[in-house]
Amino acid sequence: MSSSNQLDKKSEAWSALFSEPMSELVKRYTASVSFDQRLWRADIAGSLAHAEMLTAQGIVGADDLEAIRRGMAQITEEIESGRFEWKLDLEDVHLNIEARLTQLVGDAGKRLHTGRSRNDQVATDVRLWLREEIDTLAPLLRRMQLALVEVAERHVETILPGFTHMQVAQPVSFAHHLLAYVEMFARDEERLADVRRRTNRLPLGAAALAGTSYPLDRERVARTLGFDGVCQNSLDAVSDRDFALEFASFASITMVHVSRLAEEIVLWMSQSFGFIDLADRYCTGSSIMPQKRNPDVAELARGKSGRVVGHLMGLLTLMKGQPLTYNKDNQEDKEPLFDTVDTLRDTLRIMAEMVGGIVVKAEAMELAALKGYATATDLADYLVKKGLPFRDAHEVVAHAVKSAIQQGVDLSELPLATLQGYHASIGEDVFEVLSLRGSLKARNLLGGTAPEQVRAQIARHRSRLD
Ligand code: ARG
Repeated sequence: MSSSNQLDKKSEAWSALFSEPMSELVKRYTASVSFDQRLWRADIAGSLAHAEMLTAQGIVGADDLEAIRRGMAQITEEIESGRFEWKLDLEDVHLNIEARLTQLVGDAGKRLHTGRSRNDQVATDVRLWLREEIDTLAPLLRRMQLALVEVAERHVETILPGFTHMQVAQPVSFAHHLLAYVEMFARDEERLADVRRRTNRLPLGAAALAGTSYPLDRERVARTLGFDGVCQNSLDAVSDRDFALEFASFASITMVHVSRLAEEIVLWMSQSFGFIDLADRYCTGSSIMPQKRNPDVAELARGKSGRVVGHLMGLLTLMKGQPLTYNKDNQEDKEPLFDTVDTLRDTLRIMAEMVGGIVVKAEAMELAALKGYATATDLADYLVKKGLPFRDAHEVVAHAVKSAIQQGVDLSELPLATLQGYHASIGEDVFEVLSLRGSLKARNLLGGTAPEQVRAQIARHRSRLD
């Protein structure tokens, strides 16, 4: 085998040690190029940083570096224009690019892999790639929060029945309800920033597993590639996929938040609630029932949370049985990671857009709150202020609610004399307490649903997000 096309002939045998070529089935089973070609930009960036360092350290000549740069520029151009020929025979993105480089620039291409292994190379590529993706996801998380804040701004005084156990509990500001989701997505944003910190460390220099005998300058490579630091243990560097687990975990939690919001949107839009409507462009029709307008986007967002959580489970399971250090199992980290990123990105985009266009049916919400005796707690609190122990007040109000239900009216519709029959201390001022707006206004403490508090929270989120 002539040395110049050795890499090209990987299909025939890996090295002189092998006496027969790989079976076709094994080749297809072990190859990753069909999906890991997505890492090509990171792979080239990593190779260039490595090559520059090799030259700075006197390990590879300046002319070789020049040739490597030239070759990589051409390869970049070929990939971008779709002319690059990805070969299954060359297994993965790393070998494909290296083989083409050698084809283009000869021996210089063969010097690139000095002091490096695909083990530290792939770990570097995935981290680089994920870091870039994280940096495009963070703004989408913020856009999602902003979309919610913008709707909230218009609905501080809109009253929604707050639920516990899916039963009407107490009236809340619709804005307050939306801001609960802003809190969730704000925590997701924090988590993402945290994942980024641990993703952004350089494995290169670990080589196959034990480090290398070449005098590499790992810190220099880290600086060139924008890493915050260098992995400190070579065995860990090539085998660690915590960053993937953490990212999938962040993504799963975020998708669970999206899914809960989606579920509420689906419920609110159903005829039984009738709290909101969605713009036609986010709905689909039915092929058989002409009256249908379905919230498919919300349903799919809810459904897609399943696949992201599934990827987290897949990645955890992928890692749990692996002895140190690199094992080919790790090749299985890519598809779930890629799909997690794609699913999360599309979901955040579409949900932010859809939430922004939500049509709020304020009267329907308010009516539902009125029907549910949502101010019963307020009456109990009123009695406590008049001196009753809370448990006794609770009991008094239960009787009042029972008779209101029998008469088919709201508490506020009971005549004062009737209310006084439940407790003599009840006065004319009870009606302000029994009103939905009075109930909201009363919850004027940090984190409460009073409009004053909600406005303060909106202002806080605004200054954080603008
Ligand atoms: N395609 C491989 C992966 O994704 C690259 C590393 C291969 N290393 C090895 N020693 N076979 O993990």
